[in-house]
Parts: sequence; structure tokens; C-alpha cells
Amino acid sequence: MLELRRLIEHHAWRYHVLDTPEIADAEYDHLFDELIALETAHPELITPESPSQRVGSAPGSGFTEVVHREPMLSLDKTTEASGIADWMTRTRRLAGDSASLTFTCEPKIDGVAVALVYEEGRLAQAATRGDGERGEDVTANVRTINTVPLRLDGRDFPQRFEVRGEIYMSHRDFESFNQRARERGEKTLVNPRNGAAGSLRQLDPVLTAARPLSMYCYSLGWAEGGWQPESHFEVLQAFKRWRLRVNPHVERVADAEAAMVYLKRLEAERDNLGYDIDGAVLKVDSLPLQRQLGALSRTPRWALAYKFAAEEATTRVVGVDFQVGRTGSITPVARLDPVFVGGVTVSNATLHNMDEVGRLDLHIGDTVLIRRAGDVIPQIMAVIAQQRTANAQPILLPQSCPVCGSVVERAGDEAVARCTGGINVCAAQRKEGLLHFASRRAMDIEGLGDKLIDALVDGGFVKRAADLFHLDLATLSALPRMAEKSGNNLLAAINRSRRTTLPRFIFALGIRDVGEATALNLARHFGSLDALMSADGTALEAVADVGPVVASRVGAFFGSPENRDAVVALRAAGVSFPELSPAEAGGEGDLPLAGQTWVLTGTLESMSRDAAKDKLEALGAKVAGSVSAKTHTVVAGPGAGSKLAKAETLGITILDEPAFIQRLAELAAN
Ligand code: IVH
Repeated sequence: MLELRRLIEHHAWRYHVLDTPEIADAEYDHLFDELIALETAHPELITPESPSQRVGSAPGSGFTEVVHREPMLSLDKTTEASGIADWMTRTRRLAGDSASLTFTCEPKIDGVAVALVYEEGRLAQAATRGDGERGEDVTANVRTINTVPLRLDGRDFPQRFEVRGEIYMSHRDFESFNQRARERGEKTLVNPRNGAAGSLRQLDPVLTAARPLSMYCYSLGWAEGGWQPESHFEVLQAFKRWRLRVNPHVERVADAEAAMVYLKRLEAERDNLGYDIDGAVLKVDSLPLQRQLGALSRTPRWALAYKFAAEEATTRVVGVDFQVGRTGSITPVARLDPVFVGGVTVSNATLHNMDEVGRLDLHIGDTVLIRRAGDVIPQIMAVIAQQRTANAQPILLPQSCPVCGSVVERAGDEAVARCTGGINVCAAQRKEGLLHFASRRAMDIEGLGDKLIDALVDGGFVKRAADLFHLDLATLSALPRMAEKSGNNLLAAINRSRRTTLPRFIFALGIRDVGEATALNLARHFGSLDALMSADGTALEAVADVGPVVASRVGAFFGSPENRDAVVALRAAGVSFPELSPAEAGGEGDLPLAGQTWVLTGTLESMSRDAAKDKLEALGAKVAGSVSAKTHTVVAGPGAGSKLAKAETLGITILDEPAFIQRLAELAAN
């Protein structure tokens, strides 16, 4: 018990006070659970100093202390469906009257709990949770958070009241912060939650503002002025009226079965939320009943957390491979002792570039903290320096390409090193280039994946993209894992891809720094491939979002005889793309949907989502993956979920499929 307490105190300090944890949350939870188990078996050995006897840790220095009027409790948790059913049964029994018990389900946001006090509708104070009794005054920092209203809307809010909620950093903000930090050689954030905690505890609010945070409000602390809401759900509705931000995924359920349906759905959505959640919170909806149920020493009886699989874990780096990308970029990839994290087994993690290796001070043999959140690829967040052994090996950039043996070079101002072999010498670059050419948003050759491309290139059947269009059934069906049927399917897919669009074709060429959006701008600006190919630097720089770097990449690409030849060969092989009509070309500004952002969600019956995206883009719209206040219109088919709900809360125009098709027809007619 003493050993466990010492360990827990150490890790709680690293986590709460220093914001630099040394172990994964799940491991910390495990230590804590172990201590609780021992203390439950031997209650006579519990001391007031035990970490189990307080929540969180004492406030750090530099901020004024705030004493919470009502303590900020933590939550009892379960990881099992049976834990939910048991809790509901217990709650029903304690409540006595079981007739109309309703529960709310909501995401458990993985951030930092705060309490906001509003006086006469104005934000008067923001405090962290601290140890639950006392926190820190972070008002100046919270004022920088755009999702926290400084003044409430409406007039029916109580004179003084406290809102509780979670401040967090979205995946997008986290990634862009780290991207910038990597570019500047600065320290990266370990995870979004540490990013949020660190930002909130910045002494300079300007620094907080530079690390964008968000907030969801999830409960009422206390209220003065006669407001007596009946239910938690009613509180949340009132919050929304006053422009306090409430998570869109809050639902009411009647029983454990319905709760499990919600939880399964939420877990499936987890990757698309755009922020970290570590589970869901179930609450008794009735507030009088919440009061009647009351709380144990640190957790209320009226709420329960259901935890999902952890998204962080520690493991060992057993080696490093160097992968060669489409443009020759050499990317170090760590090979890991397989570890279960975020619901999948992870055995590799990208290291981005050698600067990142240096920043982490990573050696082969190191124990590392890895993280897999949402659809984000697994990342090594930190090396656990204390666990480095004497035979740890430094990681060195290879002098020659591991695939073709050409010299590896690193341009002075670039973070990435590159193989100098080029597409004609280096099989890795050739393969990656072909994979990109065939990819869904490029030529969309269904079924042409990396294994097949390996076989086609290694067998000498395909040297460049045009060769794909000359493949025959005999060649294909002789390849490993291919038979006549799959060969025919692939031939049909290749054949279908011959008719494409100009933006897709430009994108498919794989010109360095020309992504989908740039390809679209180039196509719109020039209208035809010939015009693009003969454009000089000045003409290229006149295109929206094209600067000197991209212009020089495009110029260099089409300046190369091999590349021009490759384009001629593709056209000779029957690849065709209509020129853009004057309405579609000639700059984005003239297009009917220019400046609008659309979002597609759910399934469409008459066309694929990709086809819908192409159509919208051809009309000048931007098509985004998530709904925000900037979204112009949402097209929602059957099965639409959170995006539709969010659009509804934001009052965004929503079209179903027939209305969407009608709108497209109208636009085409004009
Ligand atoms: S209700 C009495 N609702 O989880 C507890 N908490 O382990 C009241 N959290 O400190 C909390 N999302 O920081 C509640 N929708 C949500 C939440 C939530 C995240 C956090 C909160 C709390 C911790 C409890």
C-alpha cells in the first residue's frame, strides 16, 4: 500500500502539476484501482494522506485560489455493460418510485473540468477543479476561449449561477499546434488533454489564446435567483438558449438496453468526433432525484462513467525502418512491440522525419508512450527516459535509399530527407506514384491496391501509369491472389477510369505539393491540360492559392521530357478528360456556389458521395468533412447522425437527396 501510494503520488504530480506524465492513463488508473482494492480489504489502514482520500492535486502557484461553493466531484466508473445495469437497478431501488426514471447519456470529454460563474449574464469567474474543494482562478485564460460566451443571450437566466463543463483541445487544433511546433523545432504537446491543461495554466493569457481551446458545458453547479429546473435535460436546453455550448450527442434513455445502444453508437462515432472522449457519462435526469440520491465521499450516486478502451499505452521500440514516399521522402517508422490501444493492435508508428526523432531523443530499445486517437495514425508522444537501458541504439538517417541505393539528400531548409533516384530509378517512388494515381480521389481504379502494384512493378509489367491501360487478362490472372474473375474486374475498373475529369487527372499526376484543392484551382484556371502544360511561372502564380513554390513544382514537372512523355502516353492509351466549360473555368469567383462550404452526410442513393463532391466542387463549393458555423448547406441522406444534429442546432440549411438533386438541376439550368 505504501509503495502504491508513493507511485500514485509521483504520477499524479507529473500529470496534474507538471503536465508531463510518464505513464499512460490506463496504467495510472490501474495503480489507483489496486490501491482502492487494498484499502477496501483493509479499511483500518487508510490514512487521510492516501491519494484515495482526495481528488486531483493541490493548485500550483501563480493563480489565485478559488474555493468551490459546491465541491466538484469525480465519477464512479465501469467498463462493463453489467456495471450499467447494476447501477440502474441500484438507483431505481434507492429512488423508491421506479415509474418514471429517465437517464441521460452524454460523451465524457477528455479535457479539463472548469466552473464558470455568470453574474447578470456576464462571465465573472472561471476556476479549475483543482482538488475538488479548491481550484485556481483562470478567468483571464478562459476569456480567450471562443466557445465560452462572455455575455449570455436571452433574459431568463438566473442572476448568479455556476456552469460546469470541460475545456478541451480539438484534434485539428492539436495537430496544427504540433505541426507548427515541429516546423519550428519546438516541443510538441503530448496529447490534446495536456495541451488544454497546459494552456489553461499559462500565466500569460496571450499564450493561452495562441493554443485554441474549446468548451462543452455539462451541468449546473448552483444558481441564485429562483431558478428551479426539474431535469438535467432542461438545464442543458436552457444553456443552449443562453448560448452556452452543449455537446450535441446528449440523449435521454429509459433503461440499460437503450443506454448500451447509445454507447455502441457513440463508440463507433468516436473516431469522427474531432476531439477526445474517454467514454460516456450516464446521469439521472431528474434533479430532485439527484438531490435525493446524494453523493458518497468523492462521487455522486446519480452519475456513472462508462469508459472506452484506452487510447494511450506504453510499449518498446524494437527497430526503425525507413519508408520511401512518392516524392522520395524518407520517413522513419518505428516498429513496436505490438500493443492494444484505442481498440486496435498497433505495431508501427510514424516518426515523421529525423527532426522528430531528435526532438523525442528516441533510441531503438526505448520504452515509449504511444497514442492512437480517432482516425489519427498512431504517434509516439514521448520517450520514458527513466526506462532507457544501456544498450539503447541511436537512430541514424541512411546515406543511401533503402530501396534503390541512390544517394539520400536533405535540402538545407527542409525537414525531410529524400531519395535522389526519382521515379525512373527508385521502385518505391514508382510504386507510391502508381498507388496515388489509382487512388479513389485521383483516377479511382477500384481494386488496384499496394499488393497488386508491388506485383505488377516487381514483375516488370508496369513501369509507368500508361502501362496500366495495356494490361491484359493473361498477365493479371497469373499474378498471386488473382484469378480470371478478379482479373476481369480489375480490367473493367481500369477501363472505367479512362474517362475522368481534368482536376482528377492533374491530381493523379502526383506533382509535388499539388493536392486535390490545388489541382482543382489549376483546372478551373486553365480549363485544359494543354493550357496548363504551356503556362509559365507568371501564369501559374496567377492561380488562386498558387505561390512561387507550387508554381515552380508545376513548371518543373511539365518541363521534364519524361513527364510530358508520360502524359502523351496516357492520352494515347485512351485517358480522356473534358475541358472545363467557360462557366466552370475562369476562376472560382464566377461559379454559383463560390465561397460556400457544403457537407455531405449519410448515404445518397442516386450517386456516390464522391460523385456528389465532384459536382459541388465543379460548381465552386468547398466540400468539408465536418459541420461548423461556417457551413452553408448540409446534404443529409438516410443514416445521417451527429453532423445532421449539429447542423440542426446551428440552424444550417439542410437538404435531403431529392432537394439536393433539384438544386443541382436548377444550378445546371442557369
Ligand atoms: S458530470 C459529479 N459530464 O469527467 C461529476 N463530467 O471523472 C460531474 N467529464 O471531473 C461531472 N465529460 O471533468 C460530467 N459530460 C460530462 C463530462 C464530465 C467529462 C469529466 C469531468 C469530471 C470527470 C469525472
